[in-house]
Amino acid sequence: MENFTAYNPTKLHFGKNVIDKLGETINEYGKRVLLIYGKGSIQKNGIYDKVIQQLNLVQAEVTEYYGIKSNPLVDDVSRAAQLGKLNHIDVIVAVGGGSVIDSAKITALSIANNTDPWAFMTYKVKPIKTVPVIAVLTLAATGTEMNGAAVLQNHKTGEKRGFVSTLMYPQHSFLDPEFTFSVPKNYTAYGIADLIAHSLEAYFGEGDATLSDRFVEAIIKEAMEVAPLVLEKPTNYDYRSRIMWAATTALNGLTSHGRKYGDWGVHDIGHNLSFLYDTAHGATLSIAYPAWLKLHKDRIPERIAKLGNQLFGTNTVDETITHLEKFFKSIECPIKLSEINIGKEKKNEIINQMIQTQINGLVYKLTDEDRTKIVELML
Ligand code: NZQ
Ligand code: ZN
Repeated sequence: MENFTAYNPTKLHFGKNVIDKLGETINEYGKRVLLIYGKGSIQKNGIYDKVIQQLNLVQAEVTEYYGIKSNPLVDDVSRAAQLGKLNHIDVIVAVGGGSVIDSAKITALSIANNTDPWAFMTYKVKPIKTVPVIAVLTLAATGTEMNGAAVLQNHKTGEKRGFVSTLMYPQHSFLDPEFTFSVPKNYTAYGIADLIAHSLEAYFGEGDATLSDRFVEAIIKEAMEVAPLVLEKPTNYDYRSRIMWAATTALNGLTSHGRKYGDWGVHDIGHNLSFLYDTAHGATLSIAYPAWLKLHKDRIPERIAKLGNQLFGTNTVDETITHLEKFFKSIECPIKLSEINIGKEKKNEIINQMIQTQINGLVYKLTDEDRTKIVELML
């Protein structure tokens, strides 16, 4: 086992009506609130009204920034930060999925350090402080509600990239599974693909950590068991709770303790696909993971076969990959680019992007030949 430091300062409030504590929680940080959200789902499903009720309860002075898009843009973060600075805000309340919460985290850094957000994303400037972020999660997928990561797109530099800082853990996160009842079937499934991919990135990380491996296996088994149930009954509280907690635990540190780091090569591939075609994050991963496993099947056969044995009771590398593909198909996640209307005519465009951004894993390093092969395997 590798040395590690366990650190997770987020106070996570999970369950029915946890939103009732939002007002008093905000009050701990001040009255001037920057409320950030997406393109309107929270107004349709009533979550917006519940949040506003809590803000009114403590007479918060609210400034709103909305319209954050899925696969969020640094431009929105710059504008939100300007608004936040102008109104001298004390705390940010982010209501949404990963896109909204990630945008809020970088907005907070940008305000507190009075710095261009992209300077953090490229690790050119190290943030030294932040504005507190309170997250109200509405979609189970990314784990951002209990981690220090954020991912943004920049059209000027031509990339989607991630940034990690211990300053970016939300101070509090509110997770009411009922808030995810209205998540459409496709995004529910993408969320499941994402949490499985997070578990696998850890599993293929550097260092032997058998307990962390077992957490990975348990989280994936939990997700695979409940996936067909939640897709059939999206308003079942128990099913939504199980997926929500699985998604949080897949990327809050639990699966990485005792390893140096995860691999994250598949996420790198996924981010490039999202950048090029605005593909939903989880959909990029259900396409990229089988391709990555096929590329590595002769390089790390025992590790892949062991995974299949634990998850599916199989014995070979090929069976592991086939079963994983079968599972993704069963929840209607794509496993090939052609299923999302990206045909062979895009091959060179994707290869060029992968080579230009030098997609790579932290553990399993890729050559340009590997990058080309992976694209061919995804088509
Ligand atoms: O725009 P709104 O109205 O918010 O609608 C969203 C969006 O259209 C909708 N939605 C969210 N909650 C809903 C809902 N619709 C109905 N009812 C609800 N309760 O769902 C759509 C997708 O939302 P989004 O926030 O984009 O999805 P997700 O949570 O999957 O976040 C994806 C982003 O997170 C990044 C991804 O790269 C991507 O940019 N990631 C962040 C990570 C992190 N910070 O740790 C790790 C991940 O690997 C990932 O990279
Ligand atoms: Zn992910």
